[in-house]
Amino acid sequence: MRLSRYFIPLLKETPSETQIVSHRLMLRCGMIRQEAAGIYAWLPLGYKVLRRIEQIVREEMDRAGAVEILMPTLQQSDLWKESNRYDAYGPEMLRITDRHERELLYGPTNEEMVTEIFRAYVKSYKSLPLNLYHIQWKFRDEVRPRFGVMRGREFLMKDAYSFDLDTAAARRSYNRMYVAYLRAFDRMGLVTVPMRADTGPIGGDLSHEFHVLAETGESQVFLHKDLLSMPVPAADIDFDGDLEPIVQQRSALYAATSDVHDQARFEAEVPEDKRMSTRGIEVGQIFYFGTKYSAPMKALVTGPDGKDVPVESGSYGIGVSRLVAAIIEASHDDAGIIWPEPVAPFDVALINLKSGDAKADAACNDLYAKLEKAGREVLYDDTAERPGAKFASMDLIGLPWQVVVGPRGLEKGLVEVKNRKAGAKEELSADEVVNRFAR
Ligand SMILES: Nc1ncnc2c1ncn2[C@@H]1O[C@H](COP(=O)(O)OP(=O)(O)OP(=O)(O)O)[C@@H](O)[C@H]1O
Ligand SMILES: [Mg+2]
Repeated sequence: MRLSRYFIPLLKETPSETQIVSHRLMLRCGMIRQEAAGIYAWLPLGYKVLRRIEQIVREEMDRAGAVEILMPTLQQSDLWKESNRYDAYGPEMLRITDRHERELLYGPTNEEMVTEIFRAYVKSYKSLPLNLYHIQWKFRDEVRPRFGVMRGREFLMKDAYSFDLDTAAARRSYNRMYVAYLRAFDRMGLVTVPMRADTGPIGGDLSHEFHVLAETGESQVFLHKDLLSMPVPAADIDFDGDLEPIVQQRSALYAATSDVHDQARFEAEVPEDKRMSTRGIEVGQIFYFGTKYSAPMKALVTGPDGKDVPVESGSYGIGVSRLVAAIIEASHDDAGIIWPEPVAPFDVALINLKSGDAKADAACNDLYAKLEKAGREVLYDDTAERPGAKFASMDLIGLPWQVVVGPRGLEKGLVEVKNRKAGAKEELSADEVVNRFAR
């Protein structure tokens, strides 16, 4: 993409209303635009990152055996009356009346609707296990939307729902999501820790929140430090195999959010030098809730013994739009964002130090074409800005690599390659650059 033809409305000034670095950087980089409190338009750069995160989530859900669908944002109130949540959900639910005076709502979550879909088609244990997911916008009329897309009112969520005949099978489904989450976040360049979370009236131990550790997180978290260096299951992990040891390996070490934290246990279980208490950003949650919706909504399946039982379920959310901000919180410096390669909006920044100069233009055009052909997405700064301003903008935007082309280097047949994260610079020939980045 040529910068001269693109749309990145950079802000020169630091927006005054921002409290956390990710919000500030997203506005400065022209990634998002607030349209109403907690409601954002996604501008090209932001939208590209959002889609890359979404795609990683999708690939890991598919790998774990989940099946993608798309449910609507608008729902009828009737289903929520069946589950008794219509009144219980309170003012966070955005309620809408259509021209026929029918009550609709903008979905804050989809347990009811997916249960309705399930019960319409699935009658036998032979169709199980089943996990249906979608990646769709949600609306929650949060009391205090803040921190940009971190806590929006409209936000993009991946939500999956598992269906099983009994609790043992439901646990296996839960474990599949647990492992899929570890993999998805790891692929985004994040270190996440699954924390024991409140299961409310359901009880049991099957709920985890996945947290990115960052000072700006909204939750207080307590953990054993070794959880930060645990190996993440590889892509060839067998999702039909026994995943319990992977879950147990982590669960054996203390990790809890303040809601369920037990200081005495923390001190008893974790040696002092391994104790860590910090802030966390919740980027996902997995939850087993049994027959909470299937029983009142009569989503029954016939077991091998011929008896009908309410199906056992869990739900599994990932905050896709929140992740954009969480990744920035975890990866930036004073100059701007440092995108992990798998989620970066472009792979390479190509900086022409002297646009209009025939040699520099020709060298850039050639590199641009070859890098794109080699499978890289390139953001080519072909504008007439000063070099200093170009460097500052590209550092701010934070693409993983910068290729700098100027008349002085070209005389020696060289261009400069800079790694945004390490800051390290190298001089290479154009051919070497193309080889370096060839996929
Ligand atoms: N207002 C929001 N803005 C952006 N992302 C959100 C918001 N609310 C929830 N999410 C994301 O969706 C995921 C699944 O939703 P879930 O119902 O578990 O949220 P939650 O526990 O109510 O979140 P929180 O405690 O942060 O309000 C969360 O883990 C989070 O990453
Ligand atoms: Mg949650």
